Amino acid sequence: MANETNQNGGQQQGAESDMTLTNRQGHPITDNQNVRTVGSRGPTTLENYHFLEKITHFDRERIPERVVHARGAGAHGYFESYGKAGDEPVSKYTRAKLFQEAGKRTPAFVRFSTVVHGGHSPETLRDPRGFAVKFYTEDGNWDLVGNNLKIFFIRDPLKFPDMVHAFKPDPVTNVNNMERMFDFLSLSPEATHMVTFLFSPWGIPANYRQMQGSGVNTYKWVNKDGVGVLVKYHFEPLKLPIRNLTQADADKIISKNYSHATQDLYEAIEKGEYPEWELRVQILSDDEHPELDFDPLDPTKLWPEDVAPMLPVGKLVLDRNPTNYFAEVEQAAFGTGVLVDGLDFSDDKLLQGRTFSYSDTQRHRVGTNYLQLPINAPKTHVATNQRDGQMAYNVDAAPGQSPHVNYEPSSLGGLKEAPKAGKDHEPAYNARLVRQKIDRPNDFKQAGETYRAFEDWERDELIANLVANLSICKADIRERMIGYFTQADPDYGRRVREGLEANGLQHGNPATGAVASDAGVEEAKKLGGE
Ligand code: HEM
Repeated sequence: MANETNQNGGQQQGAESDMTLTNRQGHPITDNQNVRTVGSRGPTTLENYHFLEKITHFDRERIPERVVHARGAGAHGYFESYGKAGDEPVSKYTRAKLFQEAGKRTPAFVRFSTVVHGGHSPETLRDPRGFAVKFYTEDGNWDLVGNNLKIFFIRDPLKFPDMVHAFKPDPVTNVNNMERMFDFLSLSPEATHMVTFLFSPWGIPANYRQMQGSGVNTYKWVNKDGVGVLVKYHFEPLKLPIRNLTQADADKIISKNYSHATQDLYEAIEKGEYPEWELRVQILSDDEHPELDFDPLDPTKLWPEDVAPMLPVGKLVLDRNPTNYFAEVEQAAFGTGVLVDGLDFSDDKLLQGRTFSYSDTQRHRVGTNYLQLPINAPKTHVATNQRDGQMAYNVDAAPGQSPHVNYEPSSLGGLKEAPKAGKDHEPAYNARLVRQKIDRPNDFKQAGETYRAFEDWERDELIANLVANLSICKADIRERMIGYFTQADPDYGRRVREGLEANGLQHGNPATGAVASDAGVEEAKKLGGE
Protein backbone atom coordinates (compact mmCIF):
# COMPACT_ATOMS: atom_id res chain seq x y z
CA MET A 1 0.00 0.00 0.00
CA ALA A 2 2.83 2.34 0.85
CA ASN A 3 4.39 1.68 -2.56
CA GLU A 4 1.12 2.28 -4.33
CA THR A 5 0.85 5.63 -2.67
CA ASN A 6 4.37 6.51 -3.79
CA GLN A 7 3.73 5.28 -7.31
CA ASN A 8 0.66 7.46 -7.40
CA GLY A 9 2.85 10.46 -6.70
CA GLY A 10 1.59 10.73 -3.13
CA GLN A 11 -1.78 11.98 -4.35
CA GLN A 12 -3.87 9.90 -1.97
CA GLN A 13 -4.99 11.03 1.46
CA GLY A 14 -2.59 10.02 4.30
CA ALA A 15 -5.12 7.87 6.12
CA GLU A 16 -4.72 5.23 3.43
CA SER A 17 -1.19 4.37 4.46
CA ASP A 18 0.93 4.50 7.56
CA MET A 19 3.90 5.21 5.30
CA THR A 20 2.58 8.41 3.79
CA LEU A 21 4.79 11.41 4.48
CA THR A 22 2.93 14.18 6.29
CA ASN A 23 3.83 17.39 8.04
CA ARG A 24 3.23 17.82 11.77
CA GLN A 25 -0.27 19.11 11.08
CA GLY A 26 -1.09 15.73 9.53
CA HIS A 27 -1.25 17.10 5.99
CA PRO A 28 -0.06 14.53 3.44
CA ILE A 29 2.98 15.84 1.56
CA THR A 30 2.55 15.46 -2.18
CA ASP A 31 5.80 17.10 -3.25
CA ASN A 32 8.83 17.02 -0.97
CA GLN A 33 11.32 18.00 -3.69
CA ASN A 34 10.24 21.46 -4.87
CA VAL A 35 9.35 24.60 -2.95
CA ARG A 36 6.48 26.61 -4.35
CA THR A 37 7.77 29.39 -6.63
CA VAL A 38 6.54 31.96 -9.08
CA GLY A 39 7.56 30.09 -12.20
CA SER A 40 10.25 27.45 -12.11
CA ARG A 41 13.04 30.03 -11.53
CA GLY A 42 11.47 31.63 -8.44
CA PRO A 43 11.13 33.71 -6.36
CA THR A 44 9.70 31.51 -3.65
CA THR A 45 6.52 32.47 -1.85
CA LEU A 46 6.15 32.90 1.88
CA GLU A 47 2.97 30.89 2.41
CA ASN A 48 4.81 27.57 1.79
CA TYR A 49 3.61 26.01 5.06
CA HIS A 50 5.31 22.65 4.51
CA PHE A 51 8.65 24.27 3.67
CA LEU A 52 8.45 26.70 6.59
CA GLU A 53 7.52 24.00 9.08
CA LYS A 54 10.31 21.74 7.82
CA ILE A 55 13.06 24.36 7.77
CA THR A 56 12.13 26.12 11.00
CA HIS A 57 11.98 22.80 12.85
CA PHE A 58 15.37 21.89 11.42
CA ASP A 59 16.72 25.26 12.59
CA ARG A 60 15.74 24.27 16.11
CA GLU A 61 16.97 20.65 16.07
CA ARG A 62 19.71 21.25 18.60
CA ILE A 63 19.03 21.89 22.23
CA PRO A 64 21.80 23.24 24.45
CA GLU A 65 24.40 20.60 25.18
CA ARG A 66 24.92 19.53 28.74
CA VAL A 67 27.29 22.13 30.19
CA VAL A 68 29.45 19.18 31.28
CA HIS A 69 29.21 15.51 30.20
CA ALA A 70 27.96 16.54 26.74
CA ARG A 71 29.41 13.49 24.96
CA GLY A 72 27.59 10.32 25.89
CA ALA A 73 26.03 6.99 25.03
CA GLY A 74 23.11 5.21 26.67
CA ALA A 75 21.39 1.87 26.98
CA HIS A 76 18.35 0.33 28.65
CA GLY A 77 18.35 -2.65 30.97
CA TYR A 78 17.43 -3.70 34.45
CA PHE A 79 18.68 -3.92 38.00
CA GLU A 80 18.25 -7.25 39.81
CA SER A 81 18.41 -7.21 43.59
CA TYR A 82 20.16 -9.85 45.72
CA GLY A 83 17.84 -8.97 48.65
CA LYS A 84 20.95 -8.74 50.83
CA ALA A 85 23.78 -6.34 51.57
CA GLY A 86 26.68 -8.77 51.83
CA ASP A 87 25.47 -11.40 54.33
CA GLU A 88 22.84 -9.23 56.01
CA PRO A 89 19.25 -8.76 54.88
CA VAL A 90 19.26 -5.41 53.07
CA SER A 91 16.21 -4.33 55.12
CA LYS A 92 18.54 -3.89 58.11
CA TYR A 93 19.85 -0.76 56.37
CA THR A 94 17.23 0.43 53.87
CA ARG A 95 13.54 0.05 53.26
CA ALA A 96 13.90 1.08 49.56
CA LYS A 97 11.59 -1.36 47.79
CA LEU A 98 13.80 -2.12 44.80
CA PHE A 99 16.37 -3.82 47.06
CA GLN A 100 14.11 -5.92 49.27
CA GLU A 101 13.46 -9.21 47.43
CA ALA A 102 16.13 -11.38 45.89
CA GLY A 103 15.57 -11.59 42.13
CA LYS A 104 13.37 -8.51 41.92
CA ARG A 105 13.98 -6.65 38.65
CA THR A 106 13.67 -2.88 38.22
CA PRO A 107 13.92 -1.34 34.72
CA ALA A 108 16.93 0.95 34.34
CA PHE A 109 18.53 3.32 31.84
CA VAL A 110 22.22 4.21 31.90
CA ARG A 111 24.06 7.08 30.25
CA PHE A 112 27.85 6.98 30.06
CA SER A 113 29.79 10.11 29.17
CA THR A 114 33.03 12.03 29.09
CA VAL A 115 33.06 15.32 30.96
CA VAL A 116 34.83 18.32 29.55
CA HIS A 117 34.37 18.51 25.80
CA GLY A 118 31.45 18.87 23.42
CA GLY A 119 28.88 16.46 22.06
CA HIS A 120 31.01 14.95 19.28
CA SER A 121 34.42 15.09 20.94
CA PRO A 122 36.66 12.00 20.87
CA GLU A 123 35.92 9.33 23.45
CA THR A 124 39.62 8.70 24.05
CA LEU A 125 40.22 11.95 25.93
CA ARG A 126 41.72 11.92 29.41
CA ASP A 127 38.67 12.71 31.51
CA PRO A 128 36.54 11.06 34.17
CA ARG A 129 33.71 9.02 32.62
CA GLY A 130 30.12 9.61 33.69
CA PHE A 131 28.07 6.58 34.81
CA ALA A 132 24.51 7.83 35.40
CA VAL A 133 21.77 5.32 36.19
CA LYS A 134 18.03 5.87 36.25
CA PHE A 135 16.13 3.15 38.15
CA TYR A 136 12.40 3.18 37.29
CA THR A 137 11.27 1.81 40.66
CA GLU A 138 7.74 1.11 41.84
CA ASP A 139 8.09 4.12 44.15
CA GLY A 140 9.10 6.41 41.28
CA ASN A 141 12.52 7.14 39.86
CA TRP A 142 15.88 6.90 41.56
CA ASP A 143 18.88 8.44 39.80
CA LEU A 144 22.42 7.52 40.79
CA VAL A 145 24.62 10.03 38.95
CA GLY A 146 28.13 8.70 39.22
CA ASN A 147 31.53 8.61 37.56
CA ASN A 148 33.97 5.78 36.84
CA LEU A 149 36.45 7.07 39.44
CA LYS A 150 35.45 6.79 43.08
CA ILE A 151 36.54 10.28 44.13
CA PHE A 152 36.30 13.86 42.86
CA PHE A 153 38.56 16.92 42.38
CA ILE A 154 36.90 19.24 44.88
CA ARG A 155 34.71 19.01 47.95
CA ASP A 156 32.94 22.37 47.86
CA PRO A 157 30.28 23.05 45.20
CA LEU A 158 31.19 26.76 45.12
CA LYS A 159 34.35 25.78 43.25
CA PHE A 160 32.65 23.73 40.52
CA PRO A 161 32.00 26.47 37.91
CA ASP A 162 35.61 27.73 38.24
CA MET A 163 36.94 24.22 37.94
CA VAL A 164 34.94 23.53 34.80
CA HIS A 165 35.98 26.88 33.27
CA ALA A 166 39.63 26.04 33.91
CA PHE A 167 39.25 22.60 32.28
CA LYS A 168 37.35 23.81 29.22
CA PRO A 169 38.99 25.64 26.29
CA ASP A 170 40.40 29.15 26.74
CA PRO A 171 37.57 31.70 26.31
CA VAL A 172 39.66 33.78 23.88
CA THR A 173 41.32 31.18 21.68
CA ASN A 174 38.81 28.36 22.17
CA VAL A 175 41.84 26.07 22.42
CA ASN A 176 42.26 23.63 25.27
CA ASN A 177 45.17 24.74 27.46
CA MET A 178 46.59 22.51 30.17
CA GLU A 179 48.23 25.50 31.84
CA ARG A 180 44.78 26.83 32.79
CA MET A 181 43.81 23.41 34.17
CA PHE A 182 47.00 23.02 36.21
CA ASP A 183 46.80 26.66 37.34
CA PHE A 184 43.49 25.79 39.04
CA LEU A 185 44.66 22.38 40.27
CA SER A 186 47.89 23.80 41.69
CA LEU A 187 45.81 26.10 43.88
CA SER A 188 43.42 23.30 44.89
CA PRO A 189 45.45 20.81 46.96
CA GLU A 190 42.36 18.68 47.59
CA ALA A 191 42.50 17.69 43.88
CA THR A 192 45.85 15.88 44.23
CA HIS A 193 44.25 12.47 44.74
CA MET A 194 41.97 12.85 41.70
CA VAL A 195 44.88 14.16 39.58
CA THR A 196 46.81 11.01 40.53
CA PHE A 197 44.04 8.83 39.13
CA LEU A 198 43.27 11.04 36.13
CA PHE A 199 46.80 11.23 34.73
CA SER A 200 47.34 7.51 35.21
CA PRO A 201 45.75 5.05 32.75
CA TRP A 202 42.62 5.23 34.94
CA GLY A 203 41.98 8.58 33.23
CA ILE A 204 41.32 6.83 29.89
CA PRO A 205 39.06 3.77 30.32
CA ALA A 206 39.29 1.53 27.26
CA ASN A 207 35.51 1.64 26.72
CA TYR A 208 32.31 1.98 28.75
CA ARG A 209 31.83 -1.76 29.31
CA GLN A 210 35.18 -2.28 31.01
CA MET A 211 35.07 0.41 33.63
CA GLN A 212 33.77 0.79 37.14
CA GLY A 213 31.09 3.21 38.29
CA SER A 214 30.72 5.03 41.59
CA GLY A 215 28.24 7.38 43.18
CA VAL A 216 31.32 9.19 44.62
CA ASN A 217 29.31 11.24 47.12
CA THR A 218 28.11 9.84 50.41
CA TYR A 219 24.38 9.19 50.64
CA LYS A 220 22.26 7.62 53.38
CA TRP A 221 20.15 4.51 53.62
CA VAL A 222 17.17 4.63 55.97
CA ASN A 223 15.41 1.57 57.41
CA LYS A 224 11.79 1.15 58.54
CA ASP A 225 12.64 2.54 61.99
CA GLY A 226 13.98 5.77 60.49
CA VAL A 227 17.58 4.85 61.36
CA GLY A 228 20.08 6.14 58.80
CA VAL A 229 23.54 4.87 57.82
CA LEU A 230 26.09 6.49 55.50
CA VAL A 231 26.41 4.70 52.17
CA LYS A 232 28.61 4.84 49.09
CA TYR A 233 27.65 3.05 45.85
CA HIS A 234 30.04 1.32 43.45
CA PHE A 235 29.52 -0.65 40.22
CA GLU A 236 32.03 -3.36 39.32
CA PRO A 237 32.06 -4.84 35.78
CA LEU A 238 31.13 -8.54 35.98
CA LYS A 239 31.79 -10.20 32.64
CA LEU A 240 34.84 -8.32 31.43
CA PRO A 241 37.92 -7.13 33.29
CA ILE A 242 38.55 -3.43 33.88
CA ARG A 243 40.74 -2.08 31.09
CA ASN A 244 42.46 1.30 30.83
CA LEU A 245 44.58 2.78 28.06
CA THR A 246 48.04 4.23 27.85
CA GLN A 247 48.24 7.61 26.16
CA ALA A 248 49.88 5.93 23.15
CA ASP A 249 46.99 3.41 22.86
CA ALA A 250 44.49 6.25 23.04
CA ASP A 251 46.36 8.25 20.39
CA LYS A 252 46.14 5.30 18.02
CA ILE A 253 42.38 5.02 18.47
CA ILE A 254 41.75 8.76 18.17
CA SER A 255 43.38 8.86 14.75
CA LYS A 256 40.78 6.44 13.44
CA ASN A 257 37.62 6.70 15.52
CA TYR A 258 36.06 9.45 17.61
CA SER A 259 33.23 7.21 18.82
CA HIS A 260 34.87 3.92 19.72
CA ALA A 261 33.21 3.63 23.15
CA THR A 262 29.70 4.42 21.86
CA GLN A 263 30.22 1.97 19.01
CA ASP A 264 31.55 -0.72 21.35
CA LEU A 265 28.53 -0.43 23.66
CA TYR A 266 26.00 -0.37 20.82
CA GLU A 267 27.52 -3.30 18.93
CA ALA A 268 27.94 -5.45 22.03
CA ILE A 269 24.27 -5.05 22.90
CA GLU A 270 23.18 -5.71 19.29
CA LYS A 271 25.21 -8.97 19.41
CA GLY A 272 23.57 -10.00 22.68
CA GLU A 273 26.75 -9.49 24.71
CA TYR A 274 24.98 -7.62 27.45
CA PRO A 275 27.29 -5.77 29.82
CA GLU A 276 26.78 -6.38 33.54
CA TRP A 277 27.96 -4.69 36.69
CA GLU A 278 27.56 -5.72 40.32
CA LEU A 279 26.30 -2.94 42.56
CA ARG A 280 28.24 -2.90 45.83
CA VAL A 281 27.77 -0.59 48.77
CA GLN A 282 30.03 0.53 51.58
CA ILE A 283 28.27 1.35 54.82
CA LEU A 284 29.37 3.38 57.85
CA SER A 285 27.38 4.50 60.85
CA ASP A 286 25.95 8.00 60.52
CA ASP A 287 28.46 10.06 62.47
CA GLU A 288 31.71 11.98 62.02
CA HIS A 289 34.00 8.98 62.60
CA PRO A 290 36.72 10.75 64.61
CA GLU A 291 38.77 7.53 64.47
CA LEU A 292 39.41 8.11 60.74
CA ASP A 293 42.00 10.58 59.45
CA PHE A 294 39.45 12.02 56.99
CA ASP A 295 35.80 12.97 57.09
CA PRO A 296 33.57 10.25 55.58
CA LEU A 297 31.58 13.01 53.80
CA ASP A 298 34.69 14.18 51.93
CA PRO A 299 34.30 13.18 48.24
CA THR A 300 38.05 13.46 47.62
CA LYS A 301 38.56 10.33 49.76
CA LEU A 302 38.18 6.62 49.26
CA TRP A 303 36.62 4.71 52.14
CA PRO A 304 39.25 2.02 52.85
CA GLU A 305 37.75 -1.43 52.36
CA ASP A 306 39.06 -2.67 55.71
CA VAL A 307 36.97 0.07 57.34
CA ALA A 308 33.91 -0.33 55.11
CA PRO A 309 33.92 -3.55 53.05
CA MET A 310 32.21 -3.75 49.67
CA LEU A 311 28.80 -5.41 50.13
CA PRO A 312 27.17 -6.75 46.95
CA VAL A 313 23.47 -5.77 46.69
CA GLY A 314 22.50 -6.61 43.10
CA LYS A 315 23.44 -6.48 39.46
CA LEU A 316 22.83 -4.09 36.59
CA VAL A 317 22.39 -5.52 33.09
CA LEU A 318 22.15 -3.50 29.86
CA ASP A 319 20.27 -5.42 27.18
CA ARG A 320 18.58 -2.91 24.86
CA ASN A 321 19.85 -0.10 22.69
CA PRO A 322 17.90 3.14 22.36
CA THR A 323 15.82 3.42 19.20
CA ASN A 324 16.42 7.16 18.97
CA TYR A 325 19.56 8.78 20.32
CA PHE A 326 18.11 12.25 20.76
CA ALA A 327 14.86 11.23 22.44
CA GLU A 328 16.38 8.74 24.84
CA VAL A 329 20.00 9.73 25.41
CA GLU A 330 20.27 13.45 24.68
CA GLN A 331 17.05 14.33 26.47
CA ALA A 332 17.70 12.03 29.43
CA ALA A 333 17.93 14.04 32.62
CA PHE A 334 19.53 12.61 35.77
CA GLY A 335 19.82 14.32 39.12
CA THR A 336 21.27 13.56 42.52
CA GLY A 337 18.06 14.82 44.18
CA VAL A 338 16.02 12.04 42.60
CA LEU A 339 15.75 9.54 45.48
CA VAL A 340 13.02 7.14 46.60
CA ASP A 341 11.81 6.26 50.08
CA GLY A 342 14.56 4.49 52.03
CA LEU A 343 17.34 6.49 50.32
CA ASP A 344 18.42 9.88 51.62
CA PHE A 345 21.03 12.64 51.33
CA SER A 346 24.01 12.98 53.57
CA ASP A 347 25.36 16.37 54.61
CA ASP A 348 28.10 16.16 51.94
CA LYS A 349 28.24 19.78 50.69
CA LEU A 350 29.22 18.81 47.16
CA LEU A 351 26.18 16.54 46.96
CA GLN A 352 23.85 19.31 48.07
CA GLY A 353 25.33 21.72 45.50
CA ARG A 354 24.89 19.10 42.79
CA THR A 355 21.32 18.43 43.82
CA PHE A 356 20.33 22.02 43.08
CA SER A 357 22.33 22.16 39.85
CA TYR A 358 20.95 19.16 37.92
CA SER A 359 17.24 19.92 37.79
CA ASP A 360 18.03 23.63 37.38
CA THR A 361 20.11 23.02 34.26
CA GLN A 362 17.57 20.52 32.91
CA ARG A 363 14.73 23.04 33.09
CA HIS A 364 16.93 25.24 30.91
CA ARG A 365 18.48 22.52 28.71
CA VAL A 366 15.43 20.36 28.02
CA GLY A 367 12.55 22.52 29.25
CA THR A 368 10.12 23.07 32.09
CA ASN A 369 8.27 19.85 31.37
CA TYR A 370 11.37 17.64 30.93
CA LEU A 371 9.88 15.12 33.34
CA GLN A 372 6.97 14.45 30.99
CA LEU A 373 9.29 13.00 28.32
CA PRO A 374 9.08 9.20 28.19
CA ILE A 375 12.78 8.67 29.05
CA ASN A 376 12.49 10.80 32.18
CA ALA A 377 8.94 10.01 33.28
CA PRO A 378 8.57 7.37 35.99
CA LYS A 379 6.93 4.12 34.87
CA THR A 380 4.55 4.34 37.77
CA HIS A 381 1.63 6.39 39.04
CA VAL A 382 2.25 10.14 38.54
CA ALA A 383 -0.34 12.61 39.79
CA THR A 384 0.67 16.18 40.54
CA ASN A 385 -1.11 19.49 40.65
CA GLN A 386 1.58 20.99 38.44
CA ARG A 387 0.03 22.37 35.27
CA ASP A 388 1.01 24.09 32.05
CA GLY A 389 4.43 25.51 31.17
CA GLN A 390 6.31 25.38 27.92
CA MET A 391 5.59 22.18 25.94
CA ALA A 392 3.18 20.73 28.49
CA TYR A 393 2.22 17.39 26.97
CA ASN A 394 0.15 15.69 29.61
CA VAL A 395 -2.02 16.76 32.44
CA ASP A 396 -0.34 14.87 35.29
CA ALA A 397 -3.67 13.95 36.88
CA ALA A 398 -4.98 10.76 38.46
CA PRO A 399 -7.83 9.07 36.55
CA GLY A 400 -10.24 9.71 39.42
CA GLN A 401 -9.17 13.32 39.97
CA SER A 402 -11.68 16.06 39.22
CA PRO A 403 -10.26 18.09 36.32
CA HIS A 404 -11.44 21.22 38.16
CA VAL A 405 -9.26 20.54 41.21
CA ASN A 406 -5.56 21.26 40.62
CA TYR A 407 -4.77 22.03 44.26
CA GLU A 408 -4.44 20.22 47.59
CA PRO A 409 -6.05 20.03 50.15
CA SER A 410 -9.50 19.82 48.64
CA SER A 411 -12.84 18.20 49.44
CA LEU A 412 -13.94 18.37 45.78
CA GLY A 413 -12.19 15.33 44.35
CA GLY A 414 -8.51 16.32 44.49
CA LEU A 415 -5.35 14.33 45.15
CA LYS A 416 -4.48 13.14 48.67
CA GLU A 417 -1.14 12.80 50.47
CA ALA A 418 0.36 9.31 50.58
CA PRO A 419 0.70 7.34 53.84
CA LYS A 420 4.23 7.18 55.28
CA ALA A 421 6.25 4.05 54.53
CA GLY A 422 8.14 4.13 57.83
CA LYS A 423 9.48 6.47 60.45
CA ASP A 424 11.06 9.69 59.17
CA HIS A 425 14.82 9.95 59.43
CA GLU A 426 15.31 13.14 61.45
CA PRO A 427 18.94 14.11 61.94
CA ALA A 428 19.47 16.88 64.52
CA TYR A 429 21.67 19.95 63.94
CA ASN A 430 23.17 22.41 66.36
CA ALA A 431 26.05 24.34 64.84
CA ARG A 432 27.07 27.82 63.80
CA LEU A 433 26.38 28.95 60.23
CA VAL A 434 29.88 29.37 58.78
CA ARG A 435 32.01 29.39 55.63
CA GLN A 436 34.67 26.85 56.54
CA LYS A 437 36.61 23.96 55.12
CA ILE A 438 35.84 20.62 56.78
CA ASP A 439 38.23 19.31 59.46
CA ARG A 440 40.71 16.59 58.52
CA PRO A 441 41.24 17.73 54.88
CA ASN A 442 44.29 15.41 54.68
CA ASP A 443 44.78 16.28 51.02
CA PHE A 444 47.82 14.16 50.22
CA LYS A 445 47.89 10.90 52.20
CA GLN A 446 45.46 8.92 50.05
CA ALA A 447 47.07 10.32 46.88
CA GLY A 448 50.32 8.74 48.07
CA GLU A 449 48.57 5.44 48.86
CA THR A 450 47.01 5.41 45.40
CA TYR A 451 50.39 6.20 43.82
CA ARG A 452 52.00 3.28 45.66
CA ALA A 453 49.11 0.94 44.86
CA PHE A 454 49.52 1.40 41.09
CA GLU A 455 51.32 -1.22 39.04
CA ASP A 456 54.70 -0.11 37.66
CA TRP A 457 53.39 0.59 34.16
CA GLU A 458 50.56 2.69 35.64
CA ARG A 459 53.04 4.76 37.68
CA ASP A 460 55.30 5.18 34.64
CA GLU A 461 52.35 6.41 32.59
CA LEU A 462 51.27 8.77 35.38
CA ILE A 463 54.71 10.37 35.55
CA ALA A 464 55.05 10.60 31.75
CA ASN A 465 51.60 12.15 31.35
CA LEU A 466 52.15 14.66 34.13
CA VAL A 467 55.57 15.64 32.79
CA ALA A 468 54.18 16.07 29.26
CA ASN A 469 51.32 18.27 30.43
CA LEU A 470 53.20 20.25 33.10
CA SER A 471 56.01 21.03 30.68
CA ILE A 472 53.91 23.75 29.07
CA CYS A 473 52.99 25.34 32.43
CA LYS A 474 54.64 28.32 34.11
CA ALA A 475 57.35 27.51 36.66
CA ASP A 476 55.32 28.45 39.75
CA ILE A 477 52.46 26.17 38.65
CA ARG A 478 54.91 23.30 38.14
CA GLU A 479 56.49 24.07 41.49
CA ARG A 480 53.22 23.88 43.38
CA MET A 481 52.23 20.63 41.65
CA ILE A 482 55.62 19.05 42.45
CA GLY A 483 55.09 20.19 46.03
CA TYR A 484 51.77 18.36 46.21
CA PHE A 485 53.16 15.19 44.64
CA THR A 486 56.11 15.25 47.06
CA GLN A 487 53.73 15.61 49.99
CA ALA A 488 51.82 12.59 48.68
CA ASP A 489 54.99 10.51 48.22
CA PRO A 490 58.57 11.82 47.93
CA ASP A 491 59.25 9.40 45.07
CA TYR A 492 56.22 10.77 43.18
CA GLY A 493 57.44 14.37 43.47
CA ARG A 494 61.00 13.43 42.63
CA ARG A 495 60.07 11.56 39.49
CA VAL A 496 57.90 14.39 38.16
CA ARG A 497 60.66 16.92 38.92
CA GLU A 498 63.32 14.78 37.24
CA GLY A 499 61.06 14.29 34.22
CA LEU A 500 60.59 18.03 33.89
CA GLU A 501 64.30 18.64 34.30
CA ALA A 502 65.01 16.07 31.61
CA ASN A 503 62.80 18.26 29.40
CA GLY A 504 65.19 21.15 30.11
CA LEU A 505 62.99 22.85 32.70
CA GLN A 506 64.83 24.27 35.70
CA HIS A 507 63.33 24.07 39.15
CA GLY A 508 64.01 25.54 42.52
CA ASN A 509 65.55 28.86 43.42
CA PRO A 510 69.07 29.26 42.02
CA ALA A 511 69.65 32.21 44.40
CA THR A 512 69.07 30.17 47.57
CA GLY A 513 69.97 26.79 46.19
CA ALA A 514 66.61 25.41 47.31
CA VAL A 515 65.52 22.48 45.19
CA ALA A 516 62.16 22.55 43.48
CA SER A 517 60.28 20.44 45.90
CA ASP A 518 61.45 22.46 48.95
CA ALA A 519 59.69 25.57 47.68
CA GLY A 520 56.73 23.60 46.34
CA VAL A 521 56.31 21.58 49.52
CA GLU A 522 56.30 24.74 51.64
CA GLU A 523 53.60 26.20 49.43
CA ALA A 524 51.73 22.89 49.33
CA LYS A 525 51.70 22.84 53.13
CA LYS A 526 50.40 26.41 53.24
CA LEU A 527 47.68 25.77 50.65
CA GLY A 528 46.77 22.43 52.13
CA GLY A 529 46.42 24.05 55.53
CA GLU A 530 48.52 21.35 57.17
C1 HEM B 1 26.24 16.22 34.54
C2 HEM B 1 26.78 19.74 37.77
C3 HEM B 1 29.81 17.02 40.33
C4 HEM B 1 28.62 13.28 37.55
C5 HEM B 1 26.18 17.44 35.15
C6 HEM B 1 25.47 18.58 34.67
C7 HEM B 1 25.61 19.55 35.57
C8 HEM B 1 26.43 19.05 36.63
C9 HEM B 1 25.02 20.94 35.51
C10 HEM B 1 24.67 18.61 33.37
C11 HEM B 1 23.36 17.92 33.62
C12 HEM B 1 22.41 17.97 32.46
O1 HEM B 1 22.51 18.86 31.61
O2 HEM B 1 21.52 17.09 32.42
C13 HEM B 1 27.62 19.29 38.74
C14 HEM B 1 28.02 20.07 39.91
C15 HEM B 1 28.89 19.31 40.62
C16 HEM B 1 29.03 18.06 39.90
C17 HEM B 1 27.51 21.45 40.23
C18 HEM B 1 29.60 19.60 41.90
C19 HEM B 1 29.27 20.61 42.68
C20 HEM B 1 29.72 15.76 39.84
C21 HEM B 1 30.27 14.59 40.45
C22 HEM B 1 29.94 13.55 39.65
C23 HEM B 1 29.17 14.05 38.54
C24 HEM B 1 31.02 14.55 41.78
C25 HEM B 1 30.25 12.11 39.86
C26 HEM B 1 29.81 11.46 40.88
C27 HEM B 1 27.88 13.78 36.51
C28 HEM B 1 27.40 12.95 35.43
C29 HEM B 1 26.72 13.80 34.56
C30 HEM B 1 26.80 15.12 35.12
C31 HEM B 1 27.59 11.46 35.26
C32 HEM B 1 26.06 13.41 33.25
C33 HEM B 1 24.68 12.86 33.50
C34 HEM B 1 24.06 12.43 32.20
O3 HEM B 1 24.57 11.44 31.62
O4 HEM B 1 23.11 13.07 31.74
N1 HEM B 1 26.79 17.75 36.35
N2 HEM B 1 28.24 18.08 38.78
N3 HEM B 1 29.06 15.39 38.68
N4 HEM B 1 27.50 15.07 36.30
FE1 HEM B 1 27.86 16.56 37.54
